[in-house]
Amino acid sequence: MKVLVTGGAGYIGSHTVVELLNDNHEVIIVDNFSNSNPEVLNRIKEITNKEFKFYEVDLLDEEKFEKVFKENQIDATIHFAGYKAVGESVEKPISYYHNNLTSTFILCDLMKKYSVKKLVFSSSATVYGMNNSSPLLETMPLSATNPYGMTKLMIEQILGDLYKSDNSWGIALLRYFNPIGAHESGRIGENPNGIPNNLMPYITQVAVKKREKLSIFGSDYDTHDGTGVRDYIHVVDLAKGHIKALEKFENETGVEAFNLGTGDGISVLDLVNAFKGINNVDIPYELVSRRAGDVATCYADSSKALKELNWKTEKSLEDMCRDSWKWQSNNPNGY
Ligand code: UD1
Repeated sequence: MKVLVTGGAGYIGSHTVVELLNDNHEVIIVDNFSNSNPEVLNRIKEITNKEFKFYEVDLLDEEKFEKVFKENQIDATIHFAGYKAVGESVEKPISYYHNNLTSTFILCDLMKKYSVKKLVFSSSATVYGMNNSSPLLETMPLSATNPYGMTKLMIEQILGDLYKSDNSWGIALLRYFNPIGAHESGRIGENPNGIPNNLMPYITQVAVKKREKLSIFGSDYDTHDGTGVRDYIHVVDLAKGHIKALEKFENETGVEAFNLGTGDGISVLDLVNAFKGINNVDIPYELVSRRAGDVATCYADSSKALKELNWKTEKSLEDMCRDSWKWQSNNPNGY
């Protein structure tokens, strides 16, 4: 298939592009580098030894974006582009709603105009909110506690309405749990701007001595060791889930949500200890108070993805820790 990938230079986007190229799909990346680096494009070429098209375009620039559709006979879109920092979304809600929603409206309008009706949307387990118990199922009630999460939830609803209005669309809503790890080559990986918000990039920056110590947010949760429990998934497993979703909707219509997680609950301390043991590095940490908005436990029931997409994770926690460290230690300052 000829696949348009918005945000294809980002962390999950770049790993998905590698898997698409490995599977002999044609790829057109659109990215404005607002939270990514042009060097990633060279690295994708180096890893895959394959060509792809690239447009430096902001999705909000409809005229420029339309050229991508005019110049390419696109079959399907994987839509990653969007702002993604929870804390920042609380400070700048209008910017988050405007960017994430308007870019999706423009994308859907162009897709409709050019009769491209296969869409894979990058959603998040954040749509399960604070009130469900794990393992989380796609049928559970949804809610959001911050503007970032609300944009994911709203886009899911909007895409549901789009399908209702026109049954010729095929739309997959992929709810990611906590992606970590990197391509096994160590050439692409997560490269956050400034101080990392998420746990694994913080751990790797402590390991590489860019940060002094990790703060563990909360040690009094009702979990096996008191620290927060999450479902960490290797980014390459996650990337492969997108290909499975494309394949499902290649000859089918509908709108369906899928959890992409391992189903295993790993605590902050479990992850820190695994990382230390596997990579033989020290991670100094201190226990501090809880972070507002965090739930104690969040892990997936991914049986729907197994049944309907024939997808399951293949990589272990050891792979995740080893690959995250390989990326960070080979690229201490990112790209
Ligand atoms: C976060 C977002 C979620 C988003 C996801 C994207 C929040 C509340 N949630 O998920 O909406 O979809 O990232 O990647 O921000 N932790 C520490 N110290 C740190 C960083 C994290 O102890 O320096 C702990 C957290 O309290 C949590 C776990 O590590 O228990 C994972 O945190 P994080 O990587 O930020 O992911 P989520 O909060 O699950």
